[in-house]
Amino acid sequence: MQDDNLKILVIEDDQEISKKLSSYFQKKDFEVKTAASLGEASIILNEENINVCFLDLILPDGNGLELLKHIKAEHPDIEVIIMSGFGTMDSVIEGMRYGAIDYIKKPFSFYDIDFAISRTRRYLTIQQKLIDTENRFSLIGLELENRIERQMIGKSAIINKVIDLVILAGQDRDINVLITGENGTGKEIIARIIHYSSARKDQPFFPVNSAATPESLLESEFFGHRKGSFTDAREDKKGLFEKTNGGTLFLDEIADMPLTLQSKLLRAIEEKKVKPVGGDKFTEVDIRIISATNRNIEQMIVENKFRRDFYHRINTLIIHIPPLRERPEDIEPLLKHFTAFFAKQKNRPLPEINPEVIEGLKKYSFPGNVRELKNMVERAFIISSNSVFKSADFLIPAKINLSQIDADQSLNLEENERRIIQIALSQSNYDQQLAANYLGITRQSLIRRMKKHQITLDKILK
Ligand SMILES: Nc1ncnc2c1ncn2[C@@H]1O[C@H](COP(=O)(O)OP(=O)(O)OP(=O)(O)O)[C@@H](O)[C@H]1O
Ligand SMILES: [Mg+2]
Repeated sequence: MQDDNLKILVIEDDQEISKKLSSYFQKKDFEVKTAASLGEASIILNEENINVCFLDLILPDGNGLELLKHIKAEHPDIEVIIMSGFGTMDSVIEGMRYGAIDYIKKPFSFYDIDFAISRTRRYLTIQQKLIDTENRFSLIGLELENRIERQMIGKSAIINKVIDLVILAGQDRDINVLITGENGTGKEIIARIIHYSSARKDQPFFPVNSAATPESLLESEFFGHRKGSFTDAREDKKGLFEKTNGGTLFLDEIADMPLTLQSKLLRAIEEKKVKPVGGDKFTEVDIRIISATNRNIEQMIVENKFRRDFYHRINTLIIHIPPLRERPEDIEPLLKHFTAFFAKQKNRPLPEINPEVIEGLKKYSFPGNVRELKNMVERAFIISSNSVFKSADFLIPAKINLSQIDADQSLNLEENERRIIQIALSQSNYDQQLAANYLGITRQSLIRRMKKHQITLDKILK
């Protein structure tokens, strides 16, 4: 509806009333159509964009109420004002039940008409506002989905299911989410997307890596401490729960959370309050927990390495991201995405990608998942400055060849560990993360073992 430009249809067989009304409306700058029967009215309603009808109830070819029902069914945004003669009050009441917005009694004054029009206009304005608001909300929803898809690349049915769950988790402010998946599948970006698409988005998102923080410091890290509560506590310190209050705490590598801390976290999450180490006062906190792991927690529970009650508290919604090798359709969009990303970052023209590259990558198992693909693309930019990327620019590691180990007759454990590490490194093109993935250990653990065996990358590369 345009604000001042109401389009009115007068449905009235009494020519005198019809003329009187239409000239009055014209004077007010409204557009007016007239119909003297139900039949004429139906045609006009289909052809014109009418906003308001003035409807007489007794017409030569039938009852106005029938037309009212038809209008409300077929053109629900047209408002109808009934014009009733003497003795038709029952019909008027029925008409209001069918959805007429108002009625005027014959004979009526122009004051009655003005009044009915302004009421109707007010109603139409409110309704328009409602429609605008709804549109805006669905636009926000759409924008959100686009944004998520911009960050979370992939077109496989598998990744679309993951995205559906991410959207669900974003719509709920409080539900605790556990994200599972191998290394490099995108657990952390999903945690961020959930937070930044949720009602908590203006509050902090705080990642904590339980594997990276010494156990002795974890408790004070989460709950804070009072000055003097232990040797190094020289000042009062706020814990992560308080710092993140209102926002999302991201517990990365949750499997490495010590059991004693698990029970303390469980209490804090259940009771929604925390007490600093050495303190005696509780502070209320309102936090959403998103956790991530690449381990099988169910198995850890069986082995008494993880608390079942804590697990059930953090896994209200589980989002599992399958490994990249199970969704090869995602390789091409990811490859294009990372190529565009690094071209921009390195200020280089966007290279074309030879189709054989995609075919080759689809056959590869990607133990390091999306992170590995991303690294490969970056390496391709370093290896090649051509305008077309070829297979040779994507160093796909061959499968670890165990015959190399068999060939060595020695059963000496240390010696074989050294050899296996060297093979893993050489077959992953000296990418430590990838070699660690092959070996089923963390990168830190690989580096420790490399030190132990005095293996350095410089030496190997020579
Ligand atoms: N679907 C995806 N679309 C775009 N980028 C992705 C996708 N999945 C992963 N990535 C990128 O891959 C890298 C690894 O992702 P992320 O750190 O979220 O993985 P992770 O599962 O937390 O890994 P880890 O278990 O090793 O901590 C990041 O650079 C991330 O942006
Ligand atoms: Mg991670």
